[in-house]
Amino acid sequence: MSCAAEVPGPDTTSGVGQGTERDLLVSDVQHLDPFEIELSTYSVPADLPDPATAAAFFAGEKTGSAALQFLETALSSGALPLDDGFDRIIHPGAIFLHDAHLLYYLTRSLRPEMVVETGFGYGLSAALLLSAMRVNGRGTLVSMDPILQSPSPAGVRLLAKLGLEGHRPVAEPSALGLAAMAAKYREPRLKLSFVDGSHHFDAKMIDFYLLDRMTEVHGIIALHDPDGSAVETLISFIEANRPYRVARPVSTLAICQKLEHDTRLWDHFVPFHVSQRHHGSGLI
Ligand SMILES: C[S@@+](CC[C@H](N)C(=O)[O-])C[C@H]1O[C@@H](n2cnc3c(N)ncnc32)[C@H](O)[C@@H]1O
Repeated sequence: MSCAAEVPGPDTTSGVGQGTERDLLVSDVQHLDPFEIELSTYSVPADLPDPATAAAFFAGEKTGSAALQFLETALSSGALPLDDGFDRIIHPGAIFLHDAHLLYYLTRSLRPEMVVETGFGYGLSAALLLSAMRVNGRGTLVSMDPILQSPSPAGVRLLAKLGLEGHRPVAEPSALGLAAMAAKYREPRLKLSFVDGSHHFDAKMIDFYLLDRMTEVHGIIALHDPDGSAVETLISFIEANRPYRVARPVSTLAICQKLEHDTRLWDHFVPFHVSQRHHGSGLI
C-alpha cells in the first residue's frame, strides 16, 4: 500500500498533555476487567505514515516527555534499567525504535479507545502505546501474555515507573483471551492492535483471525517480525485470501489495514506461499 504523505495525522491540539507522572501500583491493575470497556464507532484515516514522518513526529513529541525519552534511550541501547538495579537486554524480542515511531504515530492518529496487544514481554510496546494514549487523553491497552501471571512482572513495574495508566493485563495465552473478547465484542470496533505474542504459526493465525473479527473497516492489525517464517506465511495467507492491504514500512513491522469485512463463500480458499525456512532459534 502507499505510505502517503496526505495522512490526516495526529491531532496535536486536542491532547491533554503528558498527564501526571504518578506511580501505578500493580495491585491497581490486576483486578480490572478488560472486557468491560464500551467501544463506540469511529472514523479511521485511510492512509498510513512513512517512517520519516513518524520519526519526525515522535521527535517533536518526546520533548518534555520523560516517558518517551526513557523509551527512546532503552530502545536505542537495547538495555532496560529497572528498579531492581538490573538492566534487561531487550533485543531481540522488544520492538525497535523505528517500530516505536510508527506505532506511536498510528496511536496518536487513530485515537483509539482501546488497543489490544498480544505479547507483553518487558512491556516496551505497552509503554509506547500507553504513552501515546496518555497524550490522546483517552485509551486503554489490553495486553495478553502468560508472563503476566508472574506476581510482579518487570513490564508492569516499567509502566509504574513511567506513571502510565490505562493498562489492563490479561495473564492468558492470547488465543484464550482474544476468544473471550471476541465473544463479547460482536461488533467490529477495534481500530488498532499489535501482534507480538507466540511466534508459532498457528498462534499467529488465531491472533489474526480473532482480532480481525473485532476490527473496524480501515482498522489496523500491526504484526511484529514479518521476517519470521510464521508471520511471513500469515501475510501470504492474508494477501491471498482476505481484503487487507499490507504495508511493510520497516523490515520489522507489517501494517495490515482492513479494507472490507469478510464476505467469502464458506468454502473459499486461495493457495498462498508457505515459508520454507525452519525456525527454532528462539531469537524472535
Ligand atoms: C517478543 S516478546 C513481546 C515483546 C513486547 N511486545 C515488547 O515490544 O516489549 C513475546 C512475548 O510473547 C509472549 N507469549 C508467548 N506465547 C504467548 C501466547 N500464546 N499468547 C500471548 N503471549 C505469548 C511471551 O511470554 C513473551 O513475553
